[in-house]
Amino acid sequence: MLELPGLIDPHVHLREPGGTHKEDFDTGTAAALAGGFTMVLAMPNTLPPLVDPASLVRARAAAHVKARCDYGIFLGAGEDNLELVPNLASQVCGLKVYMDQTYGPLRMGSLSALLAHFKRWPGPGPIACHAEGRSLAVVLALAQLFDQRIHICHVSLGVELELIRLAKQRGAQVTCEVTPHHLFLSQADLSAIGPGRAEVRPRLAPPEDVAALWEGMEWIDCFATDHAPHTLQEKDSAEPPPGYPGLETALGLLYGAVQEGRLTLDDLVRRMNTNPRQIFGLPVQPETWIELDEGATWEVRAAELHSRCGWSPFEGMKLSGRVRRVALRGRLAYQDGEVLAPKGYGQDLVAAVQPIPA
Ligand code: NCD
Ligand code: ZN
Ligand code: ZN
Ligand code: ZN
Repeated sequence: MLELPGLIDPHVHLREPGGTHKEDFDTGTAAALAGGFTMVLAMPNTLPPLVDPASLVRARAAAHVKARCDYGIFLGAGEDNLELVPNLASQVCGLKVYMDQTYGPLRMGSLSALLAHFKRWPGPGPIACHAEGRSLAVVLALAQLFDQRIHICHVSLGVELELIRLAKQRGAQVTCEVTPHHLFLSQADLSAIGPGRAEVRPRLAPPEDVAALWEGMEWIDCFATDHAPHTLQEKDSAEPPPGYPGLETALGLLYGAVQEGRLTLDDLVRRMNTNPRQIFGLPVQPETWIELDEGATWEVRAAELHSRCGWSPFEGMKLSGRVRRVALRGRLAYQDGEVLAPKGYGQDLVAAVQPIPA
């Protein structure tokens, strides 16, 4: 057995409120524990989006009674919430800016609102950006103009990682994450996954870009699942929403890369615990660890996963290293397929004791 610190996933969609038929704080955090994650950071593209005190109160109330692992919550940057954001900043793990078309209504279309958010955001969390292609160049420039710390979500292309490397080399306060699906799947897998199910933003990339991400591993700060559950019925419909579930397959995929010598164990722990904790200013979780059966191999079967969405783009894949036990703050939270932490055990590690200002 291999003992590792509890993993931190800085990018998950728990769909509450407004999408609880896909996932909620209960099933999403159960999936997290089953995957070896003891802390997740939840994205604000809910329905309605998390952009003001009322929506934040509502999401926090749901998380408080339902979450089984620890969590933080992002605030969304909207075009109409400029005044509200600074007051809420200390309650959230970061400000999320959606620069490009993706799932849900949150989207930064206005350049002046974007500038105003970069001008006003007080931290302490970073501005997390969904910024593909040219949008990435925009937010890198703004980070330097306004001296902001930014975190780039789900980098998928070689040229994007190159831009991030150049910005880092010039001293920009930029960090980034890459998802397991962008490291282990490419355009070559589209037809096997199926056209609707394969929809995801950023899209799966050409194999050359996947290779460039692996080659540029030293510039990747975090692995984030971008766990984005949608039901099979939705994925197989005429208008499939983009997104893959990923909490329960991430460690098996990445530990397989450790066994193949493509990553060291230290590379993995830094990107799944140390770095996300530092980037988002998260506290150490005491008496928190996971136990991995290094020798075990298993086959992904969506029916056995805890997520409500009922499918996986990795269906049928053989993964290495199985999570046997998870301890969270001194309590056994998961063991051999059973989630033991009850609903409500999870704590908001960013805003635990702070009331929401009126
Ligand atoms: C995400 C979702 O479904 O919320 N979808 C996706 O394809 N990644 C949104 C996002 O992370 O951009
Ligand atoms: Zn309580
Ligand atoms: Zn995104
Ligand atoms: Zn996402």
